[in-house]
Amino acid sequence: MPDSAKPLDVVLDLQTKRGARLRENRRATLLELARRPLVRSRLPRQRQRCLVNAVWSTLFGQRCLVNAVWSTRTDTHGESVTDQSRGIDRSDEEPLVGDGVTQGIVRVGDTVRRPVRPFTLTIQAFLAHLHAAGFSEAPVPLGLDEQGREVLSFVPGDVPREPLPPETAKEEVLVALAQLIRRLHDAAEGWAVPEDAVWGGIPGTQVRNSTPDGEPPLVSPRDYCPGNVVFRDGLPAALIDFDLARPTTRVDDIANALYYWAPLMHPEDRAPAFRDLDIPHRVAVFADAYDMTPDQRRVLVPTATAMIGRFHVNMRAAAERDPVFRRFWNEGAKDRLPRAETWIQQEGPAITAEIAHR
Ligand SMILES: Nc1ncnc2c1ncn2[C@@H]1O[C@H](COP(=O)(O)OP(=O)(O)O)[C@@H](O)[C@H]1O
Ligand SMILES: [Mg+2]
Repeated sequence: MPDSAKPLDVVLDLQTKRGARLRENRRATLLELARRPLVRSRLPRQRQRCLVNAVWSTLFGQRCLVNAVWSTRTDTHGESVTDQSRGIDRSDEEPLVGDGVTQGIVRVGDTVRRPVRPFTLTIQAFLAHLHAAGFSEAPVPLGLDEQGREVLSFVPGDVPREPLPPETAKEEVLVALAQLIRRLHDAAEGWAVPEDAVWGGIPGTQVRNSTPDGEPPLVSPRDYCPGNVVFRDGLPAALIDFDLARPTTRVDDIANALYYWAPLMHPEDRAPAFRDLDIPHRVAVFADAYDMTPDQRRVLVPTATAMIGRFHVNMRAAAERDPVFRRFWNEGAKDRLPRAETWIQQEGPAITAEIAHR
């Protein structure tokens, strides 16, 4: 970011460069509002908060649950707190490291700061919708901070890392996850996607879901890897990291969760506690807890098979473009994904039979 650039200008620029055009009149109003809290840093905090809320409401054309504090760090004279190097004080920032995809995530008190990407505003609007619709087991979107980073509420709990620990192999975990995702889907269903929505994805994606399962589309996270599920009292209690959210279907999203948590992988690639589990039975436990319809049960395995095939093609393409994905590829995805494809071809019929009988 050039030193002279104002963070929200940069965000808007990103949005418009990616073709997500804000209507001209909205954009002008937004820019006008966006400048105020930045140039008038002596404004009382309450006023700054109002201005930022106004910015977000204008952007999304709706009242969002955004409760951003634009300038959370001011000294007693109302000036921004600065350090010698970049005018930034990082003393209260705790780095958060997940799967290593997103760099620069930090915790500040009960908030998380993440870099702004072209899709950030869309995802914040989606999160706001989820909360407004009664799904509160996701970060609360809190706008942007004075450095132009996105601000989300910190979700307390434990986030497991791979290999998944043995206690996460219990059926109760699958049940709680299925119920959580069911509630998320029900809340997501009513969202009117903004016409200027921008979506993320892994770099260089070649194949997208073509929604072959005939289900109506809805926006959903599409990334239930262990690092994105927050546990409390040993059970999934909330979801974080909506970077890959985009329009999908319930079944396609469920297939993603099952890939990681049934899991729909070759035994060789599972965490030790998952190696000998009865996967068709576990998928049925999930299907029952979610209350999947007969149609959803019928299309689950073909949808999951197609999804794993896409993972393979897209991961290979991402590895060619991006060093983080190159590392994932070389450290195992290049063998794991073809093995998963072979495994689901073999085991798929048994899964379909097991879930159909319920
Ligand atoms: N809102 C949040 N609440 C609690 N922990 C979070 C939150 N956001 C991120 N984290 C922690 O930081 C890690 C990495 O963040 P994440 O958003 O998943 O980034 P990545 O894109 O690298 O997967 C997570 O696995 C989690 O431990
Ligand atoms: Mg993550």
